Amino acid sequence: MGPLLVWVLSGCACLTSASPLAEDDALAERDRLLAQAERSVAEAGRKLKNDPTRPIVHLLPPGNWMNDPNGPIRFNGAYHMFYQLNPYGDNWGNMHWGHFRSDDLVFWKDDPIALWPSKSRGEEHCFSGAAVVRPDGKLMIFYTSIGKRDPEQWAAVSEDADARTFRKHPANPLLTLKDHGGLKIDDWRDPYVFREGSKWYMVVGGHRAGGKGCILLYQSGDLDHWTFRGIAHEGTENNWECPNLIRIGEKWVLIYSPHGPVRYKTGTLDLSAGRFVPEHEGVVDVGDYYAPNGLYDAQGRHLLWGWIRGFPEGKGWNGCLTLPRVLGVTASGRLTQQPLPELKALREAQSSSAKASVENGHAVVGTGHESTWEVELTITRKSAKQVVIKLLAEGRPTPLLDFTWQGDDLRVGESKLPPPSPGSRTLGLKIFRDRSVVEVYTEDGGCVARVVADADRPWDLWLEAEGGGADLQLERWPLRTIWKGR
Ligand code: FRU
Repeated sequence: MGPLLVWVLSGCACLTSASPLAEDDALAERDRLLAQAERSVAEAGRKLKNDPTRPIVHLLPPGNWMNDPNGPIRFNGAYHMFYQLNPYGDNWGNMHWGHFRSDDLVFWKDDPIALWPSKSRGEEHCFSGAAVVRPDGKLMIFYTSIGKRDPEQWAAVSEDADARTFRKHPANPLLTLKDHGGLKIDDWRDPYVFREGSKWYMVVGGHRAGGKGCILLYQSGDLDHWTFRGIAHEGTENNWECPNLIRIGEKWVLIYSPHGPVRYKTGTLDLSAGRFVPEHEGVVDVGDYYAPNGLYDAQGRHLLWGWIRGFPEGKGWNGCLTLPRVLGVTASGRLTQQPLPELKALREAQSSSAKASVENGHAVVGTGHESTWEVELTITRKSAKQVVIKLLAEGRPTPLLDFTWQGDDLRVGESKLPPPSPGSRTLGLKIFRDRSVVEVYTEDGGCVARVVADADRPWDLWLEAEGGGADLQLERWPLRTIWKGR
């Protein structure tokens, strides 16, 4: 074979597979780095087995730090959730992709760590991203590769039908900052990939140099080659991270994390013009919440998980995900969220119920030691001007949670929730308490996730009524853990 032909062949081959020697080295490096990361997580996990503050119905690594949920997807009949993992500490750093798997979205198990920084290629972190199923049936992960260079969009492809091991895509980087022509983009990260018609689309977060947070749109026919289409939408905050662009019924919903409360816009997406046009906007969760990511389940529902952050340091773990939330959009374009109904499978058989009527005072409507439970309650605000639900830890004056309903105003602490229908006198609430995490859902689809202290103390649940009377009825279930095999 002449030298030219050899060059042409190996030149073509590099899009589909690296040279065998380089590939062997890359796989040996992968196996070594992943084994080291797994050992570190397992060791952290052994130390925190008896920590009574560590949630048991919220997704979190066996040990050490997590942040964003990444690339949730249904693949070969199972649900996969990846996440930003620091295997080497309970603080942010060394970003890998951890991996959970579930058959039913309720009970989960740990899978081997999926992505590692390819040190020999100058990669230091595998930042957030998305997963899709390739036409050849493999799972493909898109993520932002960070090193001592500009960020790049990289991919990895599963080796097996179970998606337990991945190889970096031989054509990495799939996109670099140079692909934007003369446009200068900063903080370029967190690809989200979806299919419409015969094409694939990707949105990535960031902002024009000197501009505002935006989503940049790219297009591909085969997932391996991408072209830049332009800025599909620009906002008012300085930067946007972790965009999701999802379709719910007739509407498109853009969710983004602007280094503050996570926001959404509902509107229309014109892919021929490459533009998202918003019609309505709001906050996804007013609590200790960031960087959500979601999937379409087998029934076509869109489920969303966010990162719950703000736990104390130094416990050998830090961070968890919210419960899976089913998204909806109202006629006026408001985003609604409800806990996945199948979570009822976590309820222990024996529930306790309570009823109370209060007139200008308070009543204790629940009390206990166990710290992982769900409450469903209905408040009837008769003549009361204000009704407050409080979760109190024994011996602590400041409530773990205070939920206030006054006029048409709903609040958790100081943070507003979407109001119930005007003039409404009854309100349904669901509260999940999982040790140091509380999530509250209103029947109108508002919700909040909060980190709370004193998970190891006995607690009381109070109803308070001011300026008149109010009734309450509730049912409470202890919850069992979501973990299989931990
Ligand atoms: C959001 C974020 C992402 C980034 C990841 C790094 O929390 O900053 O923008 O990809 O975390 O861990």
